Amino acid sequence: MKPQNVVLIPGDGIGPEITAATQKVLAAAGAEIEWIERKAGVAAITAGDDVLPGDTVDAIRHHKIALKGPCTTPVGKGFASVNVQLRKKLDLYAAVRPVRNIPGVPTRFDDVDIIIIRENTEGLYSGVENEVTPGVVMSMKVATRKACMRIARWSFRFATQRQRKRITVFHKANIMKVTDGLFIECAQKVHKKDYPNIAYDEAIIDAGCMKLVQNPSQFDILMLENLYGDVVSDLCAGMVGGLGVVPGANIGETQAVFEAVHGSAPDLAGKGTANPLALLMSAVMMLNHMAEVNNETTCSNVAAKIKRAYNAALGDGCKTRDLGGECSTDDFADAVIERLEG
Ligand code: NAI
Repeated sequence: MKPQNVVLIPGDGIGPEITAATQKVLAAAGAEIEWIERKAGVAAITAGDDVLPGDTVDAIRHHKIALKGPCTTPVGKGFASVNVQLRKKLDLYAAVRPVRNIPGVPTRFDDVDIIIIRENTEGLYSGVENEVTPGVVMSMKVATRKACMRIARWSFRFATQRQRKRITVFHKANIMKVTDGLFIECAQKVHKKDYPNIAYDEAIIDAGCMKLVQNPSQFDILMLENLYGDVVSDLCAGMVGGLGVVPGANIGETQAVFEAVHGSAPDLAGKGTANPLALLMSAVMMLNHMAEVNNETTCSNVAAKIKRAYNAALGDGCKTRDLGGECSTDDFADAVIERLEG
């Protein structure tokens, strides 16, 4: 594998612990990565910088790829989410979150294999909120044809490349006729014109959630606008063992930032007990992405080796507490490293 520069944002809360564990596994697996460490979030403020320093964004623009730990966002006050800002600044419009059962983690469902694709730049995450008059506040939901068309095109192209069979859009166009109406109109257009061989359907999101928890195996790819994608990602994570096992990627035209779906888990910060698996799985997605972009197989071989090793570790019962095991963050990383082959 040719050495590759990757921007690393350790993030807040459990972020530094799980990024260190992930870096350790990647190094042991032979991933030749030059980490360019940058700050964001509370860690950046504590270091006397802006919450999203310009040199962090510039480094990702320059190196085109980043692995990011979670960043804390204050609730109901304070600075705007670093995660949302970063996705908007770099136009990382497609969030991809594969949700699958994993070995050794029994759940109520044993046949979950869903890929969530979330539009990452619009909707209620526009951040346009104001007080109209005392006691009356409002938040603006934004949808543009440009962004709805590109996420639809991206999703159908992705489905074709990954040989997935069906895309389902969850929406609320019965109530939000204009914004969600535009979202489904664009999905329908792209389906009909360019991808008629991928099955396409829609569900009103409330009924869609009911169907998900009744029988998740009926879904293949879910495509959602920003807020629904955020909420449904965590719902689906709950069906396969929790937030500790669901990775993610934020993809734009030229840059990609890989991060777990979960947040900074302040309740676990500093205890050394957080599950590093979701971030490690995100790093595996990153290695596969590098292999695709650079058109070579060494990175994907390293990715496959890590995946076999963490599946073996889980199968042998090496699990962190969130999955009912006893491993610390470091114990789990070491268990994966012990099982790396070749
Ligand atoms: P959270 O995902 O941090 O935690 C929810 C629950 O899941 C907690 O009980 C936590 O202990 C558990 N959990 C999460 N990750 C885990 C892991 N790796 N191993 C074991 N258990 C894990 O969500 P919460 O509490 O709503 O948010 C905390 C902070 O994270 C907030 O400031 C929020 O804004 C931020 N956040 C950041 C995200 C990002 O950086 N992409 C995404 C989601 C939330």
